[in-house]
Amino acid sequence: MTRKIIIDTDPGQDDAVAILLALASPEEIEVLGITAVAGNVPLPLTSKNARIVCELAGKTGTRVFEGCDRPMARDLVTAEYVHGKTGLDGIVLPDPKMQVQDAHAVDFIIETLRAEPAGSVTLCPLGPLTNIGTAFQKAPDIKEKVQEIVLMGGAYFEVGNVTPAAEFNIYVDPEAADIVMKSGAKITIMPLDVSHKALTTRPRIEAFRALGHVGEVVASWTDFFERFDMEKYGSEGGPLHDPTVIAYLLKPDLFTGRHINVEIELQSDLTRGMTVADWWRVTDRAPNATFMGDIDAEGFFALLTERLARL
Ligand code: RIB
Ligand code: CA
Repeated sequence: MTRKIIIDTDPGQDDAVAILLALASPEEIEVLGITAVAGNVPLPLTSKNARIVCELAGKTGTRVFEGCDRPMARDLVTAEYVHGKTGLDGIVLPDPKMQVQDAHAVDFIIETLRAEPAGSVTLCPLGPLTNIGTAFQKAPDIKEKVQEIVLMGGAYFEVGNVTPAAEFNIYVDPEAADIVMKSGAKITIMPLDVSHKALTTRPRIEAFRALGHVGEVVASWTDFFERFDMEKYGSEGGPLHDPTVIAYLLKPDLFTGRHINVEIELQSDLTRGMTVADWWRVTDRAPNATFMGDIDAEGFFALLTERLARL
């Protein structure tokens, strides 16, 4: 059964690999559209990078929409220090010929969820949740139409990567994340607790590089992207955060987690954007998300390499 998805994204090298994984898996995944959001880099670049990736995959029929260029209630925070000035530093690829769709991403999300049968569309946010939170605020009726939200964001044991308390996607737009967490939709979260176990290594990157042009590009992205985390954490490689979302759709058994309560810190400047995950169920707050805690990293990279080889 093909799963219909909308990828909401702020490419970013790891977003780009996630998009490639989805586009390489048409038997299981139908990408209804890609909605760009401001995050790792400003919106014009995330939109451009999303189209670059679609052209790299040879999927120029993919519809790409531009969404929100800043968080719902905060100033934009970007991450060029991780992803480079272009947001897609690595092998330089040609500017895209694909055009952006006319509709705003938020309207595309609303109209798609209203048009498709209820419970048949999965949202896959890979960046700040601004587009999703804005859509839910503008059209509350669509919340119950979502099949599932599978998002990359947050942390429990890994706590934070942009502050001592918060992960980047949630930190950038905590108000949007709060709307999503309280939406009542079925939510599955891929936090840093998972992505920090999905680390690149030399053999894994060389396996990408051996695949041909697409693999060489992916290897150049990971070569660039991993250096920040390696220097910061002293780790062997960098975490491939966003592809875990798509891998979950393809092989959910690669992941384990718990159905728990997750709420977002909005009040404190010190802990803004913290995902307060009740992992040990010490409160009576109702569970609202499946919060993943572990990944079969070998299986994840085997899946990723096998699928990238198809492009
Ligand atoms: O914290 C990691 C997340 O923030 C990833 O989605 C990365 O692409 C950035 O958006
Ligand atoms: Ca991202």
